[in-house]
Amino acid sequence: MRTPLIAGNFKMFKTAAETVTYVKDLRGLITASKVFGVDVVIAPPFTSLSAAVDAAAGSVIGVAAQNLHWEREGAFTGEVSAAMVHATGARLVIIGHSERRTLFGDTNETVNKKTHAAITGGLVPIVCVGETLDQRDRNETMAVLDKQIKESLDRVTGEQLSRIVIAYEPVWAIGTGRNATPAQAGEAHFHIRQRLKQWFGLDASEKCRVLYGGSVKPDNIAKLIAEPDVDGALVGGASLDPKSFFAIITGAAAK
Ligand code: 13P
Repeated sequence: MRTPLIAGNFKMFKTAAETVTYVKDLRGLITASKVFGVDVVIAPPFTSLSAAVDAAAGSVIGVAAQNLHWEREGAFTGEVSAAMVHATGARLVIIGHSERRTLFGDTNETVNKKTHAAITGGLVPIVCVGETLDQRDRNETMAVLDKQIKESLDRVTGEQLSRIVIAYEPVWAIGTGRNATPAQAGEAHFHIRQRLKQWFGLDASEKCRVLYGGSVKPDNIAKLIAEPDVDGALVGGASLDPKSFFAIITGAAAK
């Protein structure tokens, strides 16, 4: 079975010092409660990665970056490579978040390059996909997901897919307080799982974790994660407070 994964995407929040305080608080909550059976990841800004890794050492908390560039090094002002992220001690990276797709020009093609760079660089990619409200209203959700997954994971092998994480984040649910209903999430996740089976084989499709993201909160995680193909959550706003993030982790432990 797939171990549930709860990942916190800090977006552009928290300095290194604030991240360290956060990790100490979260560690304390996890240790005191003995929650087990859930993988926990935080994705702070690049400037906090090393400090987060140090603060999380010896705990169950993994650390992810929020983006990377596909080249190893070069004249790419403002960019950070997989090797640089890996050297901080972070072992995962979020790729193709909808904010990067809409605000910073990420496309399925660049997401694919970044995914391969992450794998080559020893990082677990958390590849984000999801439809806009217009696309959902036009009944294009599954077609949009198919195209995003097919193109973003082009040339990825089944063996590689089994270690990749996919995050289904409907754009209309991000930061809006309007989460997908468990039925909507369950339907999209089931569809994604079928496609993964078709394109990468049964074994890989059963190992690949598919997270739901979009207004996940302590009071809705239990119903979302009860859906058979929902393997965890990528949490934005509610991950910024260690207590609410911990409540979401606890909610996922029921799975
Ligand atoms: P919210 O949880 O704030 O809606 O953000 C979701 C998200 O974008 C996680 O990557």
